[in-house]
Amino acid sequence: MGIVFTRLFSSVFGNREARILVLGLDNAGKTTILYRLQMGEVVSTIPTIGFNVETVQYNNIKFQVWDLGGQTSIRYILYSKYPYPKSVIMMPYWRCYFPNTQAIIYVVDSSDTDRLVTAKEEFHSILEEDELKGAVVLVYANKQDLPGALDDAAITESLELHKIKSRQWAIFKTSAIKGEGLFEGLNWLSNALKSGGS
Ligand code: GTP
Ligand code: MG
Repeated sequence: MGIVFTRLFSSVFGNREARILVLGLDNAGKTTILYRLQMGEVVSTIPTIGFNVETVQYNNIKFQVWDLGGQTSIRYILYSKYPYPKSVIMMPYWRCYFPNTQAIIYVVDSSDTDRLVTAKEEFHSILEEDELKGAVVLVYANKQDLPGALDDAAITESLELHKIKSRQWAIFKTSAIKGEGLFEGLNWLSNALKSGGS
């Protein structure tokens, strides 16, 4: 009851809250993006083991942003109890974070063309998750400053974004290092959430 009242109060006075997951393969730039959004600075990162969570206030929305480590070993916890075959005992770890998520920011290293197929497969399996069915999707085609980076149209094709049905999505070209494109994406996201995405 208290929570319902707080939410109602917040939305009437224009201070909404949204829980966002930042997902993507390791080295895509998720943590760099989180701290660029939160502090406006480039921080030096190490691969995330577990998660970082920070609050970013933008457009009257308080975004609670969860940045999950993208390494394969982090995405999956290997349950070591036999006799099940490995494919059965791989237990998705990311899934613990899925309930109550209003939006997903999916980050792609646009210069890592060798892993785009993996990025696409991972992306579409995330979209299949029941608990993420209502979440709007923002894709950051990151690392645009690097030579050979694919543009938003090419990443749209590689990730097969046009296959997304019945949910709002958008893609933005970003460079977390230069600070480009990130707030344009967040602006889209805040409008999508206000227009009934959650
Ligand atoms: P995990 O925590 O392992 O999942 O990786 P991550 O997605 O959090 O990547 P992280 O933010 O740690 O960035 C990985 C590397 O990419 C770092 O060396 C960053 O400085 C670099 N990086 C991130 N964004 C950009 C970008 O837009 N351009 C360039 N050139 N490098 C970037
Ligand atoms: Mg990280």
